[in-house]
Amino acid sequence: MIPENEGFSTKAVHGGESRGSEGSFVSPIYETSVFAFSSTKQLVNVISGKTEGYLYTRFDNPTVRAVERKMAILENSEDAAAFSSGMAAITTTVLALVSSGDHVVASQDLYGGTLTFFQEILPKFGVKVSLVEAANVDEIKNAIQNNTRLIYAETPTNPTLKIVDLRKISTLAKKKGVITVVDGTLASPYNLKPIEFGVDIVVHSATKYLGGHHDVTAGVVCGSKEFIQKLKKTRKILGGTLDPTAAWLLLRGLKTLALRMERHNQNGMRIAKYLESHPKIAKVYYPGLPSHPQHALAKRQMRGFGGVVSFEIKGDFEKTVKFVENLKLCVLAASLGGTETLVTQPTTSSHYFISPEQRQKLGVTDQLVRLAVGIEDPEDIIADIEQALNKI
Ligand SMILES: Cc1ncc(COP(=O)(O)O)c(C=O)c1O
Repeated sequence: MIPENEGFSTKAVHGGESRGSEGSFVSPIYETSVFAFSSTKQLVNVISGKTEGYLYTRFDNPTVRAVERKMAILENSEDAAAFSSGMAAITTTVLALVSSGDHVVASQDLYGGTLTFFQEILPKFGVKVSLVEAANVDEIKNAIQNNTRLIYAETPTNPTLKIVDLRKISTLAKKKGVITVVDGTLASPYNLKPIEFGVDIVVHSATKYLGGHHDVTAGVVCGSKEFIQKLKKTRKILGGTLDPTAAWLLLRGLKTLALRMERHNQNGMRIAKYLESHPKIAKVYYPGLPSHPQHALAKRQMRGFGGVVSFEIKGDFEKTVKFVENLKLCVLAASLGGTETLVTQPTTSSHYFISPEQRQKLGVTDQLVRLAVGIEDPEDIIADIEQALNKI
């Protein structure tokens, strides 16, 4: 047990772990699909919930449980549930909450997969979705109807790094009896704990900062004990449970979350400032810059601003492609939050399937580049950007 007042790193290192048998210091990987019983009575007690225990890994598993406990500690939530991907976490959460006839108010600035789920999948089951500019609380307020069940948003948003005012949204939602779900992937619990601002449920693509090494695909949901219990019933049926080996990798990655985030924060800020002063850059999106329109809110809400820096090149799509393809250290790959710096053009990756009209509305232009800054030496990342900019 970790005392409640311990710091974030201590919680990240020690929290939730369960040392194995034979004196094993590290939590073991229980790579088993099924658990054995010595009697029918014991099995029935577990399946009926009369006694605690494990039955089948799609339902629950001790390694998965360890990472769930650690995440609940880090997010300051009562409990957590782990999933096979961020999308499994998001879709299972929403499906556990809505029924046919319900209405959802969702931010228009969402990860492409989440947006597609809201626009193409949910309506097939009789759930209507209104997309709003979530950085404007009045738009959310005006979109709420009598049958609105939940408000869904990301902060910071991807790829234009807008900040959503969580205190204002959760206060509004509570007044209206609506549940709030926030995707905190781009911040991680080191930089932002949405539950401390009154948000009900936090979802993560653990594939990003939480795993942190570009080697695990996972998702996590944090919330009340009551909701997580309900969510796990849905997870059991939809089947997006996390594999024990992936859970173990996540457990290992989380131990260094604070160290990695500190470096992502420092590198992100340094590179954003460098880009802002560069004559070949038209615009920089980074909430840590005083020029960001919501910088004051970001400072109030977040401990640091993370490693995602988006910017527009002065030029067109072809010039931007040339810049991206000339990078050597920064790798063209569609993810973020890991130790290595990755780069993408949102028009050819996260927003490839989004219509040109919607992209324009979201500020996802042909010249936009998203840099997911890693933990390398910042001078080396800057030198790489500089040599690629010199070629255009
Ligand atoms: C903010 C955000 N949420 C959710 C997801 C989906 O997560 P996953 O790829 O782990 O399914 C992503 C993926 O890029 C993301 O960036």
